[in-house]
Amino acid sequence: MTSNDPLLQPYQLKHLTLKNRVMSTSHEPAYSEDGMPKERYRLYHAEKAKGGMALTMTAGSAIVSRDSPAAFGNLHVYDDRIVPWLAELADSCHEHDCKVMIQITHLGRRTGWNKADWLPVLSASPVREPAHRAFPKTIEEWDIERIVADYASAAQRCQAAGLDGIEFESYGHLMDGFWSPLTNHRDDEFGGSLDNRLRFTDMVLDAVRAAVGDKFIVGIRMVADEDFENGISKEVGVEIARRLASSGKVDFLNIIRGTIETDASLTKVIPVTGMRSSPHLDFAGEVRAATKFPTFHAARISDVATARHAIATGKLDMVGMTRAHIADPHIIRKVMEGREHEIRPCVGATYCLDRIYEGGEALCVHNAATGREATIPHIIAKSEGPKKKVVVVGAGAGGLEAARVAAERGHQVTVLEASSQAGGQVRLATQNPRRKELIGIIDWRLAELDRLGVEVRYDTWAEKDDVLALSPDVVIVATGGMPQNSPLTEGDNLVTSSWDIMAGSVKPAENVLLYDDNGGHQGMGAAELIANSGSRLELVSPERFFAPEMGGLNHVPYVRAFHEKGVIVTINTRLRSVRREGNQLVAELASDFADGWRAERRVDQVVVEHGTAPLDDLYLSLKPLSKNGGAVDYERLVNGGDIFPARNPEGGFVLFRIGDAVASRNIHAAIYDGIRFGIRI
Ligand SMILES: Cc1cc2nc3c(=O)[nH]c(=O)nc-3n(C[C@H](O)[C@H](O)[C@H](O)COP(=O)(O)O)c2cc1C
Ligand code: SF4
Repeated sequence: MTSNDPLLQPYQLKHLTLKNRVMSTSHEPAYSEDGMPKERYRLYHAEKAKGGMALTMTAGSAIVSRDSPAAFGNLHVYDDRIVPWLAELADSCHEHDCKVMIQITHLGRRTGWNKADWLPVLSASPVREPAHRAFPKTIEEWDIERIVADYASAAQRCQAAGLDGIEFESYGHLMDGFWSPLTNHRDDEFGGSLDNRLRFTDMVLDAVRAAVGDKFIVGIRMVADEDFENGISKEVGVEIARRLASSGKVDFLNIIRGTIETDASLTKVIPVTGMRSSPHLDFAGEVRAATKFPTFHAARISDVATARHAIATGKLDMVGMTRAHIADPHIIRKVMEGREHEIRPCVGATYCLDRIYEGGEALCVHNAATGREATIPHIIAKSEGPKKKVVVVGAGAGGLEAARVAAERGHQVTVLEASSQAGGQVRLATQNPRRKELIGIIDWRLAELDRLGVEVRYDTWAEKDDVLALSPDVVIVATGGMPQNSPLTEGDNLVTSSWDIMAGSVKPAENVLLYDDNGGHQGMGAAELIANSGSRLELVSPERFFAPEMGGLNHVPYVRAFHEKGVIVTINTRLRSVRREGNQLVAELASDFADGWRAERRVDQVVVEHGTAPLDDLYLSLKPLSKNGGAVDYERLVNGGDIFPARNPEGGFVLFRIGDAVASRNIHAAIYDGIRFGIRI
């Protein structure tokens, strides 16, 4: 059946037929091993290919030269050993008629000198990049010769691997470092006029074309407006795009607006939850209109309706839905099968990207299968064993995930929830209006449970007998936790929890001290609410920098609010005690560094965030009655086999607990528990 959905129309890029209009733009998930895209990397892209995507742009900035050390697990495309790995990856996507390209680059100043081979970092001019903090040397003529040659041989490796094309990364890296007046202060033939500033790019293009010929697809992901004082203006950026389009050397433009040299500016290029949807789509459309050239673009086009609009209105030829596919690699298949409503939404949490900047690998806050395709399936298979009665206690993110997975396995699932609504701590987090999109994590699961016929009983405080009355084969305790206090020498009863603030059960007072030694969104969310309510706020943290559990992109909107509202931030300082004096509270502060150092703050309210203590009464009461005594074989959980050891022959059911009912963790941990236990029942 042919569809008239604009998104599903094929696109002819030179000799290459892309079967629809949806792509994943380049992003380094940091799944590489020794700079090579091995099994994990391949399975990750193959899943998107299975899901119906037309084009996956692999790697994030695969590095062409040794003196461009990986900033976050980038692939080593300067190394011949990459060819067979790329070939295997390409084959596994081609099997599903998904085309595969790769982004290659020299990172320039956007990396560190104290990594890999400890070679100096370089750039057009010695201007430091704030995000990576390296002071680059000025690139010399012998560097230019060598790096141009490196681009060419890297492109040849990609071609030899059977990839369908390459794109150059030209925003925030070496190539556009020559373009921008912010980073190019040269007075030689590589500086000054636009012709001069494009000279390095021309040299690379000529060398690459000489190496790979005319047939191989070569594109460029380029900044067409730095939107930054004294940076590349829109006029100059569009002119660069025009020149590249008419050069006959590139086959597509992939448009970026903004700079990436600080976390704050990066969020304008890659907006996070609460920021505008598709902020640069119209601009990308303007570039397409000005160049009449194949135009690709991605920036928070998270939903199918916006993507469809981008194509239908002729703003783009190919629409990037990158994080959307991290959240759900099967978007296109669902669109084709009329199951658009089943798409797991990208809620913009940007846990994925923040993790790579913190040295981790990209993981989706609410799809624990992404990046774990070898062990966790995106499509849950039906159980081959008997249908079981499964009782899940708690309808937070973890409980709902466990219920969803168990129901997909074909079991009969009942969820018992103490409150009148599902969502637990995720719902609490959405009381910060800026983060209300996170409710998609809950709503998607509730819709799936509905589809799967799972009953959710609200306002049901489950005691042992309530659970036993359902004669379960499996009991999953997902009761979460309750806020706990930091250890104080006195004044436990005088402090307010961050939950009370988030839930609105306690209003922020006029003058507030918030002490956060948990270091994640919980404390920051409460701080943002307090600051926005007009209170005077001092945020106190014992850490070297506040909220260390949260990544750089998520940091941005909080700090914006703190600056705008005049919040005082005090680090390296512990809350020791709280006492009442008159109608005020006195917070006594101490230092881990200077014994005996004390300071005091007189405030109206002290708010504390110290994570949660598990709500485990139900679990403990069911333990003696269970077959496995609540035990889990971790070795088998990780490596395969029956994960519930038989410890009690008299026991009537298998019991386990997940998420914060075990210990204070985060949304991803609860959801990962939900699915990895869920697929084993
Ligand atoms: C984990 C992750 C890593 C990324 N790394 C790169 C990269 O190396 N090169 C690049 O051009 N863009 C990179 N991006 C940006 C994406 O290509 C894309 O522009 C961005 O996610 C916005 O599109 P989206 O809203 O559809 O996700 C990365 C994004 C993510 C989520
Ligand atoms: S972590 Fe958040 S932003 Fe990243 S893919 Fe998942 S839902 Fe989207």
